[in-house]
Amino acid sequence: MKGVTVVDHPLVQHKLTIMRNKETSTAGFRRLLREISLLLCYEVTRDLELTTIRIDTPVEPMDAPVLEGKKLVFASVLRAGNGLLEGLLDLVPAARVAHIGLYRDHDTLEAIEYFFKAPSDLADRLVIVVDPMLATANSAIAAIDKLKARGATNIRFLCLLAAPEGIERFTAAHPDVPVYTASIDRQLNEKGYIMPGLGDAGDRMYGTK
Ligand code: PRP
Ligand code: URA
Repeated sequence: MKGVTVVDHPLVQHKLTIMRNKETSTAGFRRLLREISLLLCYEVTRDLELTTIRIDTPVEPMDAPVLEGKKLVFASVLRAGNGLLEGLLDLVPAARVAHIGLYRDHDTLEAIEYFFKAPSDLADRLVIVVDPMLATANSAIAAIDKLKARGATNIRFLCLLAAPEGIERFTAAHPDVPVYTASIDRQLNEKGYIMPGLGDAGDRMYGTK
């Protein structure tokens, strides 16, 4: 699908299988999400622009590569986005962080916002929005609507699982935002859950329900 990258690295796929298994513990699920986030981060940042700075190694001076431009922003869609966020921050500790509190109304599946806090200068930064699940896409679309309204123009969306229906809706709403995912699953069920999926990501991460 156009604008969608499926990260099919064997380690990602192996870890994802363990996460899908309903016998996997809360602690195991959280640890695996963090591990996978490191591998997904590698892909979503693979084409970042570099510049050089002059440094002295112990042997001689050199022009050495560093990331160009302003610090990245990771925008976590609460709650489950935080499971990806932690690993991303391990790799890019200087990144800025936005938190977007959204939950799905169980009946309408609409995304209800309850929190938003982001750096003020979003226009100048690459914003990587993270949420493990892209189901109906209502949450992802709402999160990105909000970020765009606050000035963001350069946005990527990173998830673990996506439903084909969600990708279609998402790319129609935000064709300028590339999607990175570890899997495109078969379909949504009548309750808006991804099949085969992994269940409710937030509940499995935090042992709620
Ligand atoms: C889950 C998930 C996404 C959303 C995806 O969150 O983390 O944010 O559902 O579904 P959608 O694409 O149909 O909008 P949920 O609303 O369950 O909130 P939680 O993370 O607080 O449990
Ligand atoms: N949110 C989840 O956590 N899981 C799904 O399957 C769909 C939405």
